[in-house]
Amino acid sequence: SGSLTVGELAEKLNKDSSEIIKKLMSLGVMATKNQDLDADSIELICEEFNVEVEEEVIVDETDIENMTFDDAPEDLQERPAVVTIMGHVDHGKTTLLDRIRDTKVTEGEAGGITQHIGAYQVEENDKKITFLDTPGHAAFTSMRSRGAQVTDIAILVVAADDGVMPQTREAINHAKAAEVPIIVAVNKMDKEGANPDRVMQELMEYELISEEYGGETIFVQMSAVNGEGIDELLEMIVLVSEMEELKANPGRPAYGTVIEAELDKGRGPVATLLIQNGTLNVGDAIVVGNTHGRVRAMVNDLGRRVKTAGPSTPVEITGLNNVPQAGDRFLVFEDEKKARSVGESRAQAQLEAERSSTAKVSLDDLFEQI
Ligand code: GTP
Ligand code: MG
Repeated sequence: SGSLTVGELAEKLNKDSSEIIKKLMSLGVMATKNQDLDADSIELICEEFNVEVEEEVIVDETDIENMTFDDAPEDLQERPAVVTIMGHVDHGKTTLLDRIRDTKVTEGEAGGITQHIGAYQVEENDKKITFLDTPGHAAFTSMRSRGAQVTDIAILVVAADDGVMPQTREAINHAKAAEVPIIVAVNKMDKEGANPDRVMQELMEYELISEEYGGETIFVQMSAVNGEGIDELLEMIVLVSEMEELKANPGRPAYGTVIEAELDKGRGPVATLLIQNGTLNVGDAIVVGNTHGRVRAMVNDLGRRVKTAGPSTPVEITGLNNVPQAGDRFLVFEDEKKARSVGESRAQAQLEAERSSTAKVSLDDLFEQI
C-alpha cells in the first residue's frame, strides 16, 4: 500500500533520483531508479530531506464525533450497563456511590489503594455494573451537551424527607432527553419524616409512575446510610440492563468517551476513559479529543495495572501528548501514523478555532467600549 519507486519519490520531493539513491546508500540500502520503496524507507528519506510525510487520513473527522461504526451482529456480546446517579443537592448521591462501592468492592480487591478514577465497576449476580462517579450531574450535563451519550441507566436519587426539588426536575429532563431509563432511588428512608408516598405522588407529574400507582417506573426505597435497599437497587439495575440488551463488540479497536482528565506532575496527562465499544490495549495508538498518543499504562478502578480493557470498562491511561477534556471522544487507530496525523490536524483545528474566537471576543469588547 502506498508504495513509490525511487523515481516517483524523487519527483514528489523535487529532487534528482541520484540524490535519493545516494541517501539510500548512506542508510545502507542499495536501490535503482525503478525500485519500489516500502513505507519505512519513504519515511526515512523524507526525514532526511526534512519533509513531513502527509499521510492520507482514511478515518473521517466526523467518525470521531459520531462513533458510528457498524458491528456484525455475530460479533456483539453482552456488556455491563453504565449507570449515572443524579438528583438534587444533598439528597445522597455521593453517599450512595460510596456505599455501593464499599459493600461490593472488598478491601482485598482494592489492594488497600483507594484509587479514585471517576468511575468504578461492581458485580451483582455475576453481572458487572459500571458506575460513573461524577459529582452531581455536572459531568453528565457537559458530556450530553457535547453529544456524548455515555449513560445507559439513570438513578434518580430523591430524599424521602425532602421530595422533588429543582435539580430533581433538571435530572429528569436530562435523563429524558438522553432517552435513558430512570430508576428512582427514594433515599434517606431511615430518617424521621421520610415520606416515600409523597415522592411517588410528586413524580407522577413527570410521568415517573410507580407500579403501586399503575405505572412501570421502578422505585426502590433505601438508605445510603444504613444500607437498606442497596441490594434491591443493584438487582433492579441488572434487571433493567437485561431489558435494554446492551451489547458491544470486544473484537474491534476501542472507542469511547473521556470521563475526566488532568495533568499529573509525574505521569503527565492522565485521562479516565470509558470504553464504549471494542477493547483497549496498552500500546494502542489513540486519538483523544484534540490530542493523541500511545497508551503507555492503563490502571483499572481498583488501582491495578491492566494490559487490556473491554466494553463498558473505565480505565485511567497515560501516554497522551496533551490533556483532553471530559466528554471528549477517543478512538484507537490500528496505524500509529494515522493516529498522529488525525491528532495533529485536530489540535491544529482547535488552535485555529481558539484564535478566531479570541478575535471575535476582542471585536465584541471593542464594540462594547464604543
Ligand atoms: P451534593 O454532591 O452536594 O449534590 O450532595 P449529594 O447528593 O452527593 O449528597 P451526600 O451524599 O453528600 O449527602 C448529603 C447528606 O445527607 C450527608 O450528610 C449524608 O450523610 C446524608 N445522607 C445521605 N444519604 C442518607 C441516608 O440515607 N440517610 C440519612 N439519614 N442521611 C443521608
Ligand atoms: Mg455529592
